[in-house]
Amino acid sequence: MSTLTSPLIHPRPFLKWAGGKAKLISQYTPYFPQQFRTYHEPFLGGGAIFFHLNQQHAVLTDINQELVNVYRCVRDQVEAVIDSLNNHQQHHQKNQQIYYYQIRATRFQTPVERAARILYLNKTCFNGLYRENSKGGFNVPLGRYKNPKICDPELLYAAANALKTARIQVSSFDQVLAEATSPEDFVYFDPPYHPISSTSSFTAYNRYSFHQADQVRLAQVFRKLANWGVQVMLSNSDCPLIRDLYQDFLIHEIKAARTINSNARKRGEITELLITSY
Ligand SMILES: C[S@@+](CC[C@H](N)C(=O)[O-])C[C@H]1O[C@@H](n2cnc3c(N)ncnc32)[C@H](O)[C@@H]1O
Repeated sequence: MSTLTSPLIHPRPFLKWAGGKAKLISQYTPYFPQQFRTYHEPFLGGGAIFFHLNQQHAVLTDINQELVNVYRCVRDQVEAVIDSLNNHQQHHQKNQQIYYYQIRATRFQTPVERAARILYLNKTCFNGLYRENSKGGFNVPLGRYKNPKICDPELLYAAANALKTARIQVSSFDQVLAEATSPEDFVYFDPPYHPISSTSSFTAYNRYSFHQADQVRLAQVFRKLANWGVQVMLSNSDCPLIRDLYQDFLIHEIKAARTINSNARKRGEITELLITSY
């Protein structure tokens, strides 16, 4: 049985997640609201901003059921998750090629087994991607890591502690309208970004894909919350659609590293947008 022996570290994301905001926090800091009571993150992903703020009252949601199950199990059964992950780590070290694909193909029944499977795949798959085929099966190949840290108990305990009083559920982003209603609420939206060009790669069609109509719906939700006095912040790509949808709000430019590009000319820095209602 796992136990915690050292003091808790400051929590940070325990999953690699596309679009993670950990590296942008210092640029975001001036734009967080001065005061609020409840933090809402409707596109939770890796939860970098949640862990940074470490707010006791939090409502964390995402449309990805497997992801939400991981957070709930880390919150409620962290020791069992750690034990299961340690078990994966031992088997992975013996024969990663066979073990990875065996676990990828297995549908576990209990929430803890399902959570440990996602955590294991996240630490060992190519680039920590989360991608599913049309039948909902995880289909990312094994990544090339010499000795991946599959189980990090210190980090998981810190996350469990930060999540202790959070409400965590599966829902689409518009459900936030039923939760955040006053200036005491701070909502941070980090949706899948709108593609900056037609060749951008993040428009793959699957059940988590996010289209122009979703961006428009999200802007309507943002406006509604802002009209109620809720403090709202949103990240997105710097492109005409997003600048147009949020023209009535404050638009701040953020410098981010481009995601890895095989074309050397396209590497380097890129501008992203951070939009606030306040
Ligand atoms: C860019 S990621 C969030 C990154 C995260 N905030 C971080 O810092 O690591 C976007 C997330 O939105 C979720 N998502 C996609 N469509 C959604 C929808 N309609 N409602 C709620 N969540 C959705 C995806 O499952 C994914 O986890």
